[in-house]
Amino acid sequence: MPDAVLPPIDGPVPAPLEPIQLDGLLDVPDASVAAAEAGRGLRIWALATDAVDAGDLDQARRWFDDAERAQASSFVRAELRHSYEIAHGMARRIVGAVLDRDPGDVVWDRHDCPRCGEPHGRPRVEDAADAGVEFSLAHTPGMVLLAVAHGPVGVDVEHYPAAGGLSGLTGVLHPDEAAEVEKAEDPDEAVARFTRAWTRTEAYLKGVGIGLGRDPHLDYLGTDSAPVRLLEGWRIQDVRVPRGYGAAVATRDLS
Ligand SMILES: CC(C)(COP(=O)(O)OP(=O)(O)OC[C@H]1O[C@@H](n2cnc3c(N)ncnc32)[C@H](O)[C@@H]1OP(=O)(O)O)[C@@H](O)C(=O)NCCC(=O)NCCS
Repeated sequence: MPDAVLPPIDGPVPAPLEPIQLDGLLDVPDASVAAAEAGRGLRIWALATDAVDAGDLDQARRWFDDAERAQASSFVRAELRHSYEIAHGMARRIVGAVLDRDPGDVVWDRHDCPRCGEPHGRPRVEDAADAGVEFSLAHTPGMVLLAVAHGPVGVDVEHYPAAGGLSGLTGVLHPDEAAEVEKAEDPDEAVARFTRAWTRTEAYLKGVGIGLGRDPHLDYLGTDSAPVRLLEGWRIQDVRVPRGYGAAVATRDLS
C-alpha cells in the first residue's frame, strides 16, 4: 500500500452518517435488520453502554463462545470488560438476526491478515461469506458501534482524549494531520480534529484488516469536518455519535 494521495473534495459537505440508536441490548428494530439483509447497503448500530440492563447482559453472556468468555475475563479494567461484552452481545444479536440465526449459534473467527496471512484480520462470520455479510465492531467505555455491510467494512469509535494530553498523541497521525491539529484555534477544536483523524484512520485500517499492523501516520484522512474521503477504493465517512465521542466507518467501494 503506497502513501495515500487524496483528491480534493468538491461540493457541499455531506452530513455524518446517522447510526441506528438502540435503547438496549435486546432492542433490534426488525425493519433495520431486514434492510441490511436485503442488501440495501451499510447499516450502523450504536448503543450507549449505560443503557444496558444487567439482566439483558447476563442473557448475552450465555451466547458467548469459549474465546469470548476467556477474552472477557482477561480485562483488568471493568469498564473495558463491560463494553467488550456489550459489543459482542449486540453483534451476536444483530448479525444473528441478519442471518436468521440464534445469537448463540453465530460462529465467528477472523479473515486472514493482508499483511502476514495469519487469521487475525477482520472478524468473519461462518457461512456469512455466502450471504455477502461482513461486519465490524468497536467498543470503548460508554459507547459501542456495530457496522454491517455487504462488503469489507471497518468502524471505530473513541472517546475524546483530554486536551492536555494531545501533544503526546499527535505523533500517531499523518504529519499533515498533526499540523492541522496543532494549528487549531482552541483546545476543543484540537481534540475534535485529532479524534476525527484517528477514528477515520482506525476505521480504514480495520476495513482493510491490517489494523495497526500498518503505521497509522502513513495515510492522510484529514481533520476537518468534510467527512467523505475516497482512499484507494475505500469510502470513509464520519458517524454521528454523542458529544465527547468521535466515530468513523470505512467501506470498500464495490461499484
Ligand atoms: C484492530 C485494532 C485497530 C482494534 O483497535 P482497538 O482500539 O483496540 O479496539 P476497537 O474497539 O476499535 O476494535 C476492536 C475490534 O476490532 C476487530 N479487529 C481486531 N483485529 C482486527 C483487524 N486486524 N482488522 C479489522 N478488525 C479487527 C475485532 O472485532 C475487535 O473486537 P474484539 O476484540 O472485541 O473481538 C487493533 O487491535 C489492532 O491494530 N490490532 C492488530 C495489530 C497488529 O499488529 N496486527 C498484526 C499485523 S501482522
